[in-house]
Amino acid sequence: MDFTLSEEQLMIQQAARDFAQNELLPGVIERDDAQRFPTEEVKKMGDLGFLGMMVDPKYGGSGLDTMSYVIAMEELSKVDASSSVVVSVNNSLVCWGLETFGNEAQKEKYLTPLATGEMIGAFCLSEPEAGSDATSQKTTAIDKGDHYVLNGTKNWITNGNSAGVHLVIAQTDVEKGHKGINALIVEKGTPGFEIGPKENKLGIRGSDTHSLLFNDVKVPKENRIGEDGFGFKFAMKTLAGGRIGIAAQALGIAAGAYELARKYAKERKAFGTEIANHQAIAFKLADMHTQIAAARHLVYKAAWDKDQGNNYDLSGAMAKLYASQVAMETTVEAVQVHGGNGFVKDYHVERLMRDAKITQIYEGTSEIQKIVISRSILHN
Ligand code: CAA
Repeated sequence: MDFTLSEEQLMIQQAARDFAQNELLPGVIERDDAQRFPTEEVKKMGDLGFLGMMVDPKYGGSGLDTMSYVIAMEELSKVDASSSVVVSVNNSLVCWGLETFGNEAQKEKYLTPLATGEMIGAFCLSEPEAGSDATSQKTTAIDKGDHYVLNGTKNWITNGNSAGVHLVIAQTDVEKGHKGINALIVEKGTPGFEIGPKENKLGIRGSDTHSLLFNDVKVPKENRIGEDGFGFKFAMKTLAGGRIGIAAQALGIAAGAYELARKYAKERKAFGTEIANHQAIAFKLADMHTQIAAARHLVYKAAWDKDQGNNYDLSGAMAKLYASQVAMETTVEAVQVHGGNGFVKDYHVERLMRDAKITQIYEGTSEIQKIVISRSILHN
């Protein structure tokens, strides 16, 4: 067992750390306040190769492994989870889904601009009445021979307005249940496709989350991913990898909050000494450090499984379940270590605490991860 990162992985870690400090940190509070999407920052991440990290270089990607991706996700998320979710959705859900299951024409047309950051993508599964219960799709994609006609509403879509390409999951044949679902590539601007209002959120306020409305949207059949009826499997397989990305995001939020709390505890004085010298604070830091290390091991194991070609449904779900719990607990404690200063925006930890919450909800709630884990340990 070798726990050391390779030279290349250490370089990626440093590049992501530098980018987060130099480019994401300066405007992060203002973007959160104003709910402003990090347009410039995302463009720069595209230029640096962070948006197509695992994509084959022949399609404009960086050709890296999942380990490198989670290492970068951790570093970016320490500073700005609103930006890192763009990286996660674009890499894990959109690029990976297209590269793994798309045909050559789809890859040439869509994957290259997505991997280079010329445009970003969105993954559209959730609906007003189909969140956790993802097979209950009400959006329909009716087969009209050479095209589908799409009708319905999608909710809480990350990159909803900024994406140039949306992977939309919809029901073609109700009789067939989840086997009658398709995944379609829908371009922004297609007639009948409208972007709904932006959500006003608790956390990741810089990320743009919208509902999407489809009203008789004509989608050419060549834009269907995989065989007829493959859409639900496509969503499940893609989300299994997406959960590793969100687990790494949660890990980064936790680690970012811990680093701020540790620094603050060594500077702030109370009762005649730095507060880190009080056991009440030192023990909090010890707990945080231990939990973060455990979360990191789970995240790395899931990434390693994916890189080895092992099944990663279970390890990815465990990593997301645990890392998101650690993110929540650590950020709450980081605010506590900061005392009154933790409650004001300038110290960053209150934002990390708000951002942590979504990691227990999106790409499958913690309860859904427990369904995946319990089914895996009981039925295999
Ligand atoms: N890989 C391949 N196939 C899978 C699979 C996987 N990981 N998980 C399930 N399937 C298949 C099953 O084998 C089954 O197919 P067969 O009938 O052919 O065997 C089919 O999918 C249906 O599976 P289930 O019977 O297990 O379905 P279910 O209704 O019990 O639900 C669930 C399973 C795991 C709970 C699923 O509904 C689920 O994951 N729900 C959560 C959805 C989710 O994560 N949403 C997140 C939204 S996206 C997002 O947040 C992105 C963003 O913007 C950040």
